Amino acid sequence: MTVNKQKILLGVTGGIAAYKAPDLVRKLTATGADVRVVLTESAEHFVSPLSLQAVSGNPVSNDLLDPAAEAAMGHIELAKWADTLIIAPATANFVAKLALGLADDLLSTLCLATTAKTYVAPAMNQQMWQAPATQTNLATLSSRGIEVIAPDSGEQACGDVGPGRMPEPQALADLITQPAQEKVLSGKHIVITAGPTREAIDPVRYLSNHSSGKMGYALATAALALGADVTLVSGPVAVSAPLAANLINVESAQQMHEAVMQTIDTADIFIGCAAVADYRPVNVVDQKIKKDNNELTLTFTKNPDILADVAKLERAPFTVGFAAETQDVSFYAKGKLTRKNLDMIAANDVSDKSIGFNSDNNALTVFWKEGEKKLEVADKNQLAMQLMQLINEQLR
Ligand code: C5P
Repeated sequence: MTVNKQKILLGVTGGIAAYKAPDLVRKLTATGADVRVVLTESAEHFVSPLSLQAVSGNPVSNDLLDPAAEAAMGHIELAKWADTLIIAPATANFVAKLALGLADDLLSTLCLATTAKTYVAPAMNQQMWQAPATQTNLATLSSRGIEVIAPDSGEQACGDVGPGRMPEPQALADLITQPAQEKVLSGKHIVITAGPTREAIDPVRYLSNHSSGKMGYALATAALALGADVTLVSGPVAVSAPLAANLINVESAQQMHEAVMQTIDTADIFIGCAAVADYRPVNVVDQKIKKDNNELTLTFTKNPDILADVAKLERAPFTVGFAAETQDVSFYAKGKLTRKNLDMIAANDVSDKSIGFNSDNNALTVFWKEGEKKLEVADKNQLAMQLMQLINEQLR
């Protein structure tokens, strides 16, 4: 465990995701950080101050006008104590208060009084997240240097499906405890493909694979942290893209190919992380296929190889591929490096169920013409940062 003397102030506001707050405190204290928690009045309906006091090992503050609490550590003192402030979850209401600069309770007052690096993890119903008022407020916070953490997409407590879920505590903890990165990729444009593709069979069916998009999205986040401009060309996934990335959503391999080719001219680096379907049905029938026969035969044709086509370009960017293999990982990966004329290839063993597809962890062996490096099992975010740094070292 690394020694981390970070002083983190966690502000919890009143949304259902507040139930994740004790776990977030544990994940933060596990890094060695000193954590203090401030609750809003409505947050106390979702999570008890006592649990948060127990896991943080510090008294929990919730009242601006409590003389006893003020005597222990006054609100200005608390604001000065913190070097990092994270509001998680941040409700739509709290985001609006922050955007306006209101100071009508302890947490909003602290937000005004602190110079700490501030993160906001909004969590709310998907419609509230998409509301123009919320988006305008979040843009205001970003313009003031507050880091807005994109919510995850998926099933919500209210039954809706969409963006607005608070990211998992581990992901938040990783993000705010990562040391600030030197902007070594500043001025560089990086195009990344991520996720699966969907190859239509008929109007309601398609052929796809289990790629979650997590690795590609983690690479986009790492590249942005290193100062790059990022274009993320993504197949359908459930993870949210970092807000600062230029996201292009596609479905099929042909659409992904087209989107990449339209943006590749200005790219310094291309990373093909998508699990692109190698084949697509020759004919996409107009009407839903009926189950009239006991057997169904589909004929497939090869999809364009996006990665190989990028590597073939006259002014090809530094081109990085991924190789998901189930056997002889190094042999097949090195073969691909040469055959597709790549600058680098990152190989992972997808036969190991604890890593790779859909998992939060991965391990990679990276090969380039003159060398190789093993990146041991780690969270995909950490691994993405290591890979981006390796790419930066090997750039022509
Ligand atoms: O040859 P293979 O499909 O195993 O190579 C995997 C690498 O090639 C990945 O980087 C993947 O993103 C890329 N790829 C591609 N277009 C395809 C197939 C694979 O860009 N049609």
